[in-house]
Amino acid sequence: MLSKKVEAALNAQINAEFWSAYLYLSMSAHFAADGKPGLANWFKIQFDEEQEHALRFFNYVIERGGKVELKPIEKVDLSWNSPLHAFEETLKHEKVVTALINDLVALAREEKDYATESMLQWFVNEQVEEESTAQSYIDALNMIKDNGFGIYTLDKEMQGRK
Ligand code: FEO
Repeated sequence: MLSKKVEAALNAQINAEFWSAYLYLSMSAHFAADGKPGLANWFKIQFDEEQEHALRFFNYVIERGGKVELKPIEKVDLSWNSPLHAFEETLKHEKVVTALINDLVALAREEKDYATESMLQWFVNEQVEEESTAQSYIDALNMIKDNGFGIYTLDKEMQGRK
């Protein structure tokens, strides 16, 4: 059985993951309208992944006999100045999510909820990957700068993400 504190924190995280999904879907829509189908594809897959994260928490709360409570999803930005700007915002957001996951781990330990702590390990590792991926695109886009062919090539490559 989950403690009330852990249950509330996991419910807040479900909302944060759905907010992330919404953010990346908005980025996908932005780049689709901006003639960058590869970036649109990349962020749409990111949207799928965030929904999977939300569902991992959703299923876990139920498995532990808790009650899922879905909260309203706050609005997200609708446009970004450039692909670099979108990835900078992505990294900034993923760092916030990492801090949320770390807080959850700390709470699980405080509550002696070792099952939740164990479940969260997957997310601890996932956040390392999320931040590293966003940083690698920031590095690439800083090299490309305003080079149209560079952006075109990167966009083509991003169309391959499945
Ligand atoms: Fe679910 Fe990108 O963190």
